[in-house]
Amino acid sequence: MKTVIRFCSLTHGITLWSFNIHVEIDPMKSLPIKDVIVIETAPSARNLVIAKVVTEEPGLYGLGCGTFTQRYAGVSAILRENLRPLVIGRDALRTEELWRLMMFNGYWRGGPVLNNAVSAIDMALWDLKAKVAGLPLYQLLGGKVREAAAVYRHADGTTHDELAKHVRAHLDAGVTHVRLRLGGGAAETYRSGEAGGMAYGGVNDDPVPAPDGALPGAYYDARSYVATTLDAFAHIRATFGDRVELLHDVHSRLNLTEAIRFAKELEQFRLFFLEDPLALEDFTAYRQLRAHTSTPIAASELFTNPEQWLPLVQERLIDFLRMHVSDIGGLTPARKAAIVAEQYGVRTAWHGPGDCSPVGHAVNLHLNLASPNFGIQELQPFDKTAQAVFPGCPELRAGYLYPNDKPGHGVDLDEALAAEHPCKAEVPQWTQARRPDGSLNAP
Ligand code: CO
Repeated sequence: MKTVIRFCSLTHGITLWSFNIHVEIDPMKSLPIKDVIVIETAPSARNLVIAKVVTEEPGLYGLGCGTFTQRYAGVSAILRENLRPLVIGRDALRTEELWRLMMFNGYWRGGPVLNNAVSAIDMALWDLKAKVAGLPLYQLLGGKVREAAAVYRHADGTTHDELAKHVRAHLDAGVTHVRLRLGGGAAETYRSGEAGGMAYGGVNDDPVPAPDGALPGAYYDARSYVATTLDAFAHIRATFGDRVELLHDVHSRLNLTEAIRFAKELEQFRLFFLEDPLALEDFTAYRQLRAHTSTPIAASELFTNPEQWLPLVQERLIDFLRMHVSDIGGLTPARKAAIVAEQYGVRTAWHGPGDCSPVGHAVNLHLNLASPNFGIQELQPFDKTAQAVFPGCPELRAGYLYPNDKPGHGVDLDEALAAEHPCKAEVPQWTQARRPDGSLNAP
């Protein structure tokens, strides 16, 4: 495919002032992709993968997030070895065509590794298209229906007082939605099961008998976890009344009957949502769960395919859709999922932990601003290093996240600084969740 740089006539031209350069391109013609640069960086100790799609137009590029923290090298390899040669020379403005090409080209498709690689380029293409238009990305998605996106924050604590202190700090900062977890990380702490043959409950280190020789892991006991979590909710509701929206993440650690009982007990505390009460592998059980409880349900953070979330939405079995946008293949499929969910009264609450880059967060934000059925956004705020590596990070003010007004998604990348924070391959420990008898559970 031959690539030709075309400079337009003044009538068709637009000016890209945001790059401190003055180029005129014709968006009616093609915009050939010159290169795809893969950047791995861990400014906040989480492995992030970014694709920089460079065009033949000097200074004009887009950035996209393909972060699969625990398997980042696999994503990078697909980007470098497979997708880069596939898209070079093709028209960067043909976003939908390129998404389909990247997804179908290897014949075998889908899954979190390939989806993240596709996402990195897909988001970069949307960023580019908005830069060409000279508009913030939300304008391409239908324009703003709100000025900013409400976020929820996490509150941990090993005691009720500590938990209440964290909730109060969030409220004082203007945040109105708080996700509670009693245990201060105990439920996710990696513990050896060998210590006296004892495993541990989700909180307070209550020992639970484990068999001799039980393997190391993040031990938790479902009964103790449920009981202590209910107590914590009672305390926080009693302390703060209804001036706070409360959320909780089960992290897929209950079976169906445990989840039903837990969700029913939680009804009295009027949750904003209960997250991932069931494991990814158990998604057909949402029909039974829904029939038994009025606690609002959020699910789908681990989903990678529309076949998984579509029935939940169509049957209104969940209240919030919360996929990890790069994990489903980027903005192209996320935009469609949001629109489908809107038809069924299901709101969005896209996954937004620390292993979503500022670029990924910015894309979530632009989609949130343009989606009538946006519900809430999870946010791990950007630390100083992340803000330096990614100039233009969305800004959190009094519980709301705001984009900047630059064309595109508004987040840039300092490649030299990014290189000072290399990714590290580690064996994740917290994903080795175990029940008291030592058996491995969904994390
Ligand atoms: Co979650």
